[in-house]
Amino acid sequence: MTARMIMKLQVAQARLTTPDVLHLRLVHPLRPNLPEWSAGAHVDLRLPDGRVRQYSLCGNPDDLSAYEIAVKRETNGRGGSIWAHDHLTEGATAHVSAPRNNLPLVDAKRIVIVAGGIGITPFVSMVRTLMKQGRDFTLHYCARSASEAPLLDELKDICGPSLQCWFSQEGSRFDPAVIGPSDPDTHVYVCGPQRLLDAVQSALADWPEDHVHTEVFQLTLDENFKAEPFEATIASTGQRLHVRADQSLLEVLRNAGFIVASSCELGVCGSCECGYLDGIVIHRDKSLPVSKRQDRMLPCVSRARVAVTLDM
Ligand code: FES
Repeated sequence: MTARMIMKLQVAQARLTTPDVLHLRLVHPLRPNLPEWSAGAHVDLRLPDGRVRQYSLCGNPDDLSAYEIAVKRETNGRGGSIWAHDHLTEGATAHVSAPRNNLPLVDAKRIVIVAGGIGITPFVSMVRTLMKQGRDFTLHYCARSASEAPLLDELKDICGPSLQCWFSQEGSRFDPAVIGPSDPDTHVYVCGPQRLLDAVQSALADWPEDHVHTEVFQLTLDENFKAEPFEATIASTGQRLHVRADQSLLEVLRNAGFIVASSCELGVCGSCECGYLDGIVIHRDKSLPVSKRQDRMLPCVSRARVAVTLDM
């Protein structure tokens, strides 16, 4: 569990791509190049009060002279996006982490992408990469209207006929049935509002779980979940920690003096990921891939039934 490097970047360009989505171009004031990243990656934006928000990089992975992010003004959010809209004007400083990728592009024969509104951001770099590699893909882009679809002009230029727009106010509504039946050569990527994720996931219920990839920046925790206390044992020392029902494992580890990286504390960013050796873990996040859940967990939201032994 390592802390992520934070860089002081400068806002080189700030423009509204829709009335409520701010597109930012961030550069290093001294260095010509920023750390490398790949399609699907995101960065943390650190707010002045220490809170952190994740934003997908929506520029070109081949252009390391700048990072680009798009921030939707969420008037009913937790305040981070409003701060960004109000303060990240040209010349301002933004505290930004090195990129991390929870949504890598897989090497499948065919890629289908479904994006809703601001959920388009992780896919701009992905379609650039797919075009560059000459691969078969379709991007379904859902929004209320063209004027409310962030980065639409860029996407038209990048994708050509592989872009299919579904604008509900213009009478075309996306139906997940267009994705078709389960196909071993196809992987599907989805990002957008929860109802879009739910609709696509239920339409693809018989697809292999590892062929459907989702990016979630907000976690909807199960309101009916009843947390129970459990014991956590540190494998390297045998130290036993009690996690009360009203505490997270992350909180208990920190109270015991462990330095644990974290960012969202919502089970979304993956930065608190740690290993476990035994125990029944109740995974409550939506970001850890199924393939890692046998021995990795996110202690900010995930818990254990009775006891867990942590690989630390
Ligand atoms: S801190 Fe983000 S997943 Fe745990």
